[in-house]
Amino acid sequence: MDRFSEDGYAVLPGFKSREDLAALRRAEEIATECDRSDVSIFSTRDQAQKSDEYFLTSGDKVRCFFEEDGTTVNKIGHAMHDLDTVFDRFSHDARLAEIANQAGLADPVLYQSMYIFKQPRVGGAVDWHQDAAFLRTDPVSVTAFWFALDDADRTNGCLWVQPGGHRSPLRNQFVVRNGKAELQTLNDTPWPDLSAAVPVEVSAGSLVVFNGLLPHYSAPNRSEKPRHTYTLHAVDACAKYAGDNWLQRQELPLRGFR
Ligand code: FE2
Repeated sequence: MDRFSEDGYAVLPGFKSREDLAALRRAEEIATECDRSDVSIFSTRDQAQKSDEYFLTSGDKVRCFFEEDGTTVNKIGHAMHDLDTVFDRFSHDARLAEIANQAGLADPVLYQSMYIFKQPRVGGAVDWHQDAAFLRTDPVSVTAFWFALDDADRTNGCLWVQPGGHRSPLRNQFVVRNGKAELQTLNDTPWPDLSAAVPVEVSAGSLVVFNGLLPHYSAPNRSEKPRHTYTLHAVDACAKYAGDNWLQRQELPLRGFR
C-alpha cells in the first residue's frame, strides 16, 4: 500500500490462496442456475438507457447480467458477499479491513460485490470511468477491491489505470430518480489520453485496491483465456451516502470487512 496515496492504486500480489480462488468457482454454479428469461444487458457505453429495473433493484440480490450476445454471462451482482456463504467467507477478511483503513476509510461498509467473467473472445470492453460515479458519498469515499481470479494481462483484458488520476475531478454521476437511471455530467475534464494508461498485469490471487476517483478501463478479452475477477466496493460509513444513489439497502443490513 506504499504508493496508494501517490498513484491512487496498489497491487498486493498473492493476496488470496489457490484454495480461496478455487472456492469462487461457485460463480459457475450461480451462472448455470440463472434464469435466462431475466436477461439484462451490461454496457457502460449506454448504461443509463440499458439500466432496467432488474439491474437497479439488484443491490440486495444475486442476479446474472449478460453480454450483448444475450447468452454469455457477463457478471453476477450485487450482494453475494452478504447472501452466498462462499462469497461471504471470501469477502469478510480482517486483512481487508486493515487495507481499507490504510486507504483512508475509517469505518468501511461493503455496498456491492461483482463477479466478472470476461469470457474468452466474448468478454467486452469497459470504457474509462470512475467508480465514484456509481457509489456516491460526501465526501467521496468509495474504494474498489479487485481480485484477480486468473492471470490478467494485456491479452485477456486486464485493468488499465491512469496513475495519479485520482486527483482529477469526478466527471459524472449515476443518479436514480423514480426508478429511472441517468448519467449526469459534473465536470468536462476529458478522460485521459490512452498514452497515459498503464496496464495492471497481475497473477491470479493478486488484489488491486484503487481509489474511487481513479480513471480506469479494461479492453475486450480477445484471447483464448478466461479473465475472471471478483470485486468489492466499500464506502466509509462516516460519509453521507446519497439518497438518489443506485443501490439503496432497504432490509439487508450493511456490514464491514470483519
Ligand atoms: Fe470500475
